[in-house]
Amino acid sequence: METSEIAGWLREEDPARLEVLWREADAARRQHVGDAVHLRGLAEISNFCARNCAYCGLRAGRTDLKRYRMTAEEILECARLAVSLGYGTLVMQSGEDYGIGRQWLAETIRRIKGETPLAVTLSLGERPAEDLREWRDAGADRYLLRFETSDRALYDRIHPPLPGRRSDRFAILRILKDLGYETGSGVMIGIPGQTFMSLAEDIRLFRELDLEMIGVGPYLPHPCTPMGGPRPADAEGNQLPAAAEGDQVPNSEIMAYKAVALSRLACPSANIPATTALATVNFDRGYELGLSRGANVVMPNITPPSYRALYEIYPAKSCIREDQETFHRDLVRRILAMGRTVGSGRGGNVRFVRARGDGDSSGRRS
Ligand code: 5AD
Ligand code: SF4
Repeated sequence: METSEIAGWLREEDPARLEVLWREADAARRQHVGDAVHLRGLAEISNFCARNCAYCGLRAGRTDLKRYRMTAEEILECARLAVSLGYGTLVMQSGEDYGIGRQWLAETIRRIKGETPLAVTLSLGERPAEDLREWRDAGADRYLLRFETSDRALYDRIHPPLPGRRSDRFAILRILKDLGYETGSGVMIGIPGQTFMSLAEDIRLFRELDLEMIGVGPYLPHPCTPMGGPRPADAEGNQLPAAAEGDQVPNSEIMAYKAVALSRLACPSANIPATTALATVNFDRGYELGLSRGANVVMPNITPPSYRALYEIYPAKSCIREDQETFHRDLVRRILAMGRTVGSGRGGNVRFVRARGDGDSSGRRS
């Protein structure tokens, strides 16, 4: 699909036309990745962050937030919980935390891979290539790094770089691919200043980047950030320029579904989650609507409850209320009620796994 055609769908408001989009996305999902919904256990292993993204509740500038970093043993406990709940993947997510050392994490990954059959996904920010290589060698299978927006000027305004380092997430995505990671990226929907054409270009890029995983969710303002107030500002406190009249993408629930559906059509065999941000804007039906409009993955939060409230990238994440087992039981019930099945095994990207010819087993490079 051309960028202009994608933009046309993003602007579409006629419910009957949108039904066509949902139906096409759902058909592509069924044809390419089937009815199984893969569950990934999400462990938020640290809320320390060296970065100052203008929208995020974990930004370094938030001195009021209590910080935590899980121990290796606590992470192993999460891995065991993931296994006991039947999940095939452990996702370790954190802020860009250089207190997570290269060797320490490599050792932790080796322990997880030694003790469990889990696939390991990392989502740890813009780490140097040497870290990414070491972790891949230790057995990490997948890496998630959203590029957030392909509009470079907008990206720069909301992502101050670390001193002396230009932030180039596309370069890192290439490195991840070269290292043999299953690679995931994505964007936020409705960032102040994001235009329909730029979001459409993001979605076209998903295809060009040949991503194995795509995560999109609505931008949710956090009141303790420069962008979260009534007059959204960048990291320096300068007011963010608004998009031209009629060009601004709203951060609405429906826009997020459009982006999920169009991502599915752009990358039919990608693994695409119904994200927590979606479940936050619609607690009762967000997962179902995401899963019936292109998504095939859910990432239940298995972070110990005592840490969970501290991992507040945006306010009131939907999962905060429930313990892991209760959430799990309810989620499985909801998936089955949709006529879908719960995925078994590691749930790797179907094309990626086939190209390697290693079934659903180790996922390692030969
Ligand atoms: N609203 C929505 N998503 C957010 N993220 C960070 N802050 C917010 C926010 N305020 C997303 C970013 C990041 C992912 C882990 O969480 O896309 O990549
Ligand atoms: Fe840190 Fe990621 Fe939040 Fe940016 S989006 S402040 S890198 S946790």
